[in-house]
Order: sequence, then structure tokens, then C-alpha cells
Amino acid sequence: MFLNKLKKKSIHSSSFSKLSTIDTKILIQMNNVSASYDAKNFSLKEITLSIEKGTNYAIVGQSGSGKSTLLKLINGMMNPSKGQIKVDYQTPDMNKKQFRRAMSKIGYIPQSLGLIKNISVLENVLIGALPRIGRLNSFLKKFPENEILEAKKIIQLVGLRGKENRKAYMLSGGEKRRVAIARALMQKPILLLADEIVSELDQVTAKEIMDLIADAQRRLNLTAVMVHHDMQLALKYADRVAVIKEGQKILEIGVEGDKIIDFQSGNISQKEIMELYNNES
Ligand SMILES: Nc1ncnc2c1ncn2[C@@H]1O[C@H](COP(=O)(O)OP(=O)(O)OP(=O)(O)O)[C@@H](O)[C@H]1O
Ligand SMILES: [Mg+2]
Repeated sequence: MFLNKLKKKSIHSSSFSKLSTIDTKILIQMNNVSASYDAKNFSLKEITLSIEKGTNYAIVGQSGSGKSTLLKLINGMMNPSKGQIKVDYQTPDMNKKQFRRAMSKIGYIPQSLGLIKNISVLENVLIGALPRIGRLNSFLKKFPENEILEAKKIIQLVGLRGKENRKAYMLSGGEKRRVAIARALMQKPILLLADEIVSELDQVTAKEIMDLIADAQRRLNLTAVMVHHDMQLALKYADRVAVIKEGQKILEIGVEGDKIIDFQSGNISQKEIMELYNNES
């Protein structure tokens, strides 16, 4: 019954199976990665995963399991204590100039969204263009006309037409998330990292936002790594779902046809998935 509810987007499953058989280009590779904030306790332990270009990869797990930490490692905000990470063949490290340049192609939406409250929707979205407008213009926040037009186009795309001049603090929760997505798209990213952007939203708005991201993925061949609380939503949209428990990746699952497959061990039963679903959602 649970499986019947999962309507996987055919575009995702077909593009994924093509990628895995023909084009095995990996965008993110983690090998035995452990991470600690205090050099004593490990928030992530021995994580190994591969994320292929163009896929939607979800991370699910209970509060405190290490999901946000995983995203911070991918965008170089945090360095692993052990193991190796490559993002587009580079080691993520914010302190390295070369990676900072690459960072402009990573659209990171933190759990807190990171919007500037007292400036407009348009100005928030234009922040995504800062890395490419030159140092002086960037300092003065002077944006060329073509960037302003592009930002307005993206604002329409995310369904915020007419709200360009509204201050960010005046927006609803769903609208704020749309601004954060628009700012990320303004970066012309190859990778989108989104930390629980649909948690706390009603189902209709959550679906609209997930559809928006799926559409951007199709148009831009964008790779998305998204943290979710809701296992059912994750399975509906993602090609693969990594389940994190107490810092460890305990499963890596996905929907194929009317079955859930565990890519990690290859032998998970539907009963186990149901138990997991009840535990994690
Ligand atoms: N800045 C920090 N300093 C010290 N410990 C931290 C810090 N950030 C997170 N932790 C710890 O690391 C572990 C994983 O945290 P993380 O934020 O990755 O969890 P999460 O899965 O994203 O949780 P949630 O669903 O609540 O957002 C937790 O035990 C948390 O207390
Ligand atoms: Mg988190």
C-alpha cells in the first residue's frame, strides 16, 4: 500500500538508470568520511557515498543524526576528520581559493535559509550573482541590467511575480523558501544543496517547491542533494535516499518500478522499510 503511494517521476528513474549504465560521471564522492566538531565525538562516521551528475539525492534521518553536517562537508564549510571527499574532482575547503571559486557553482540553502531580512526579494536573489559581477561592483552591490533582468525572470519562475520589491521579512515561510531557491538558481549552479527546505510546510506548498526543483533539475541538468524529514516525500522525488542514523549511513534506498531497493545491501524487505518509515518520519 505504501509503495502504491509512491509516484516516482519517470524522467528521474529513466535518466538515473541511463546514467548508471552509460555515463558514470560522479559529481560527489565520499570515502570513509568521519566528522567531528570537538575532535572527541563523531557526528558522522565512515560515510561512503557516490552521487552522479543530474540526480536528486536525498538524505533522511532523525534530528541530530548528522544530515546538516553532511551538507557542510560537501560545500567545504567543514573539513572531515578522516576520509576523503571530492566534489567535481576537488577537495571541498572554503579556505582554499580554488574551491571558493568552485563554490560559486554550489547553491547552498541552509536550514535557516540565510536570507537578508531587511532587503527586497530582488536584492536577495541578486546576491546569487555577486561572485560573477567583478570585485568593485560586488563591493558596491551594483548589478548590471542583464543580471537584474535574469533575477526578475527567476523570481517569476519560482512563482513570486509582483513580489520583487517586498522585503524578505514580510514573506510567508513558503515564499521565503522560494526566494532562497531563486537566489541559488541565480548562481547558475551545477549543484544544489538544500537543508530541509520543505519541512514545516503544508503538503501542497511542499509539493510545489519540490516540483520547482525537479523542473530546474530537468532544465539545467542540476544535481541536487536535499535533506528531508519525510521519508515518503524523499522517496517520491529522489533517485536515491541515504538514511543516516547516529552519524552512520545505514541504508541507501530508491524506488524502482513498484519496489524499494536497498542499493547498499541489496536485500531490504518491504516490512523493514515500513518500520524504518515509521521510525524516521
Ligand atoms: N556547531 C556545532 N558544534 C558542536 N556540535 C554540533 C554543531 N552542529 C551540530 N553538532 C552536533 O552534531 C550532531 C549532528 O548535527 P546535525 O546538525 O548535522 O544534525 P541534523 O541531522 O541536521 O539534525 P536536525 O534534523 O535537527 O537538523 C548533533 O549531535 C549536533 O549536536
Ligand atoms: Mg539539520
